[in-house]
Amino acid sequence: MKFFIDTADLDEIREAASWGCLDGVTTNPSLFAKTGGKLEDFEPHMVKICEICEGLPVSAESTAMTTEEMIAEGKRLAGLAPNIVVKLPICAESLAATRALAAEGVRVNMTLVFGVPQAILAARAGARYISPFVGRFDDIGEDGIEQLANVVQAVHNYSYGYWDEEGGPEIISASIRTPNHVTQAALMGADIATVPMAALKKCLFHPLTKAGLESFEADWKKVTGK
Ligand code: G3P
Repeated sequence: MKFFIDTADLDEIREAASWGCLDGVTTNPSLFAKTGGKLEDFEPHMVKICEICEGLPVSAESTAMTTEEMIAEGKRLAGLAPNIVVKLPICAESLAATRALAAEGVRVNMTLVFGVPQAILAARAGARYISPFVGRFDDIGEDGIEQLANVVQAVHNYSYGYWDEEGGPEIISASIRTPNHVTQAALMGADIATVPMAALKKCLFHPLTKAGLESFEADWKKVTGK
């Protein structure tokens, strides 16, 4: 399973990239708003992310409302850098836009996906990535991991003809909040987990690793006498 970072914060992206295991970045309007950026900063900011993560897919979300606007904005965003993926929220307009963008080789990440029917529609329209949300299902008392498992199995049951040579469509486990979400996503065969920095750090650090390292260091001092 690949790791994406779910943030628009440049320092977090640089830090995650420095770990050597980052496979991509996802952003959304809320994550960009958190950076304090204004509208005119949006595209330059996406370009900066693409430069930090050269060659890795970087999802930039369109806020257009009509199919025509989504296609135009999608092409514009895709033109910012070769590694841009256009993120669209699932709806009738974005399905049509995805079909048009895919026909021109533009990669779409279909977001705000809650369940198998939406995921299959996105795949049929030609989405390169499909992002089922986990945590937001948990937030309303449903089982986000079970929903994700259903999407992974249903989408992987078929091939869709658009992105076969790249192994797409890939499922991005989104709205990931905990290391257990990451564990469950990997066990079920999700292609990607997009994880916020706080949860990514929780995936890396373990109290027993810390305790083990401390005891190794203490014992090595006895060996070296320093
Ligand atoms: O990128 C979209 C998704 O990961 C958002 O997560 O925590 O706001 O539900 P969250």
